[in-house]
Amino acid sequence: MIVCVCHRISDREIARYARAGMGFDEIQLELGVATQCGQCEGCARDVVAQCNASHPVAALNRDDCGAPAGTRASASL
Ligand code: FES
Repeated sequence: MIVCVCHRISDREIARYARAGMGFDEIQLELGVATQCGQCEGCARDVVAQCNASHPVAALNRDDCGAPAGTRASASL
């Protein structure tokens, strides 16, 4: 699912960075999410929070991060 329409950034891409240990601010700098209209910030933060809260360390090697069904990332680092 596309989270940031302005920059075409998906929840999977955000989750991949979150699983690598990056926080929202770092992901925002890296991907540019929520840097244009800002409408996606809440959703992007939710994706990061779900990844960090569900598997704070073990998430580094997981394919999903506890995101809602249908939004799980399939790519691994
Ligand atoms: S939808 Fe993400 S900045 Fe506009």
